[in-house]
Amino acid sequence: MMTGSLQDKKIILGVTGSIAAYKSALLARLLVKSGAEVKVVMTPSAGAFITPLTFSTLTSNAVYTDLMRGDQWNSHVELGLWADLMIVAPATANSIAKMATGHVDNMLLAVYLSARCPVFIAPAMDLDMWKHPSTKRNMKLIQSDGVYYVPVEEGLLASGLTGKGRMAEPEHILHQIVNHFIQRKSLIGRKVLITAGPTREALDPVRFMTNPSTGTMGIALAECLAKRGAEVHLILGPVGEVSLSSDIAVYPVVSAEEMYHRSRSLFPQMNAGIMAAAVADFTPKKYSEHKIKKQGDELVLTLKRTKDIALDLGKMKKKDQYLVGFALETDDGKKAARQKLDKKNLDFIVLNSLSEPGAGFGRSTNKVLLMMRDGSTKDIPLKSKAKVAEDIVEQLCEVAGWKLEL
Ligand code: CTP
Repeated sequence: MMTGSLQDKKIILGVTGSIAAYKSALLARLLVKSGAEVKVVMTPSAGAFITPLTFSTLTSNAVYTDLMRGDQWNSHVELGLWADLMIVAPATANSIAKMATGHVDNMLLAVYLSARCPVFIAPAMDLDMWKHPSTKRNMKLIQSDGVYYVPVEEGLLASGLTGKGRMAEPEHILHQIVNHFIQRKSLIGRKVLITAGPTREALDPVRFMTNPSTGTMGIALAECLAKRGAEVHLILGPVGEVSLSSDIAVYPVVSAEEMYHRSRSLFPQMNAGIMAAAVADFTPKKYSEHKIKKQGDELVLTLKRTKDIALDLGKMKKKDQYLVGFALETDDGKKAARQKLDKKNLDFIVLNSLSEPGAGFGRSTNKVLLMMRDGSTKDIPLKSKAKVAEDIVEQLCEVAGWKLEL
């Protein structure tokens, strides 16, 4: 049934030192049978359970085992760039702990840190190790870094005990991987405009006003939508160097005024807009062509309001267009967010609370509340911005009636 479902996909299979490693041979076989090209990376202790020869025979590729071997030393970077997906199966408690802390003492961990693709893990361990607070903590950490998890299964364990901790069956792991790729293309034909990052309002040729937004949330949304096949147009304020998938059309802008004009001209052709930018609400009334010189003890600046992009697009919005906004509040802010939702004619709003630990500007994680027009809400717990982006995209699809699966 799965034959061909992973055609041309490049997959790294990471194998760590657990008795479940024997099942990885079957997983390798299933991946290859589904059309994927598979390269296997083993930790030194995985070699105690299964041989590289098994994997090189099954995958018709060389197996990577030794970070310090001259001919393999640089491969971690190459492999990290090569893969469309990395799956570590089995993932032991030890490897999960190292992945959580960025420890690199073997080839597999070096590949993990170099991987730009989605990474999945299928943990395998005894039930008490699985239940241990440190394992729970490490699992939380790597999931907040964006790692996907193939749930452990329940049953007889190698120790003779019965419980949770068994690695998922290879067929189940394959199923989750195939699903991941299927999901990717279900938004083909949808056009989405995203504003992201800060804006910069110049006072004179050498000074400007801005805010600490890094654009991370908007970029994560752009990547998430592009991965699913949507045509993404990203209007990006000045955030410095970022590496973005080549499928995304990026329009770099500097000021709120520029962002406004770009947004207005693009929105009529779009199916949806996501306003994730931290747009300056005020800009200097007068731009000084020359550097402002010091005079006296005070400098009084007069600022004027910028145009509200979300408000404007909300007015332009047609019946079959959808608009999502963000509300950044320093405290609870539900009331303020609700007002913004109504005033800007949004379909839903993402409430970002700066008072939440782990949420806000420049963080890789976020904790938000989705507030819908009908008054319903969805609490999204603290997780990586990439995962929060998935929840927001899912909500957009629900509101717009777009099918996320093929
Ligand atoms: N927004 C926008 N253009 C602006 C200001 C805000 O498009 N000039 C968008 C933001 O991208 C966000 C939403 O409006 O999606 C709410 O932004 P926020 O700054 O929280 O709200 P404001 O309406 O500016 O209200 P206030 O600053 O008074 O809280």
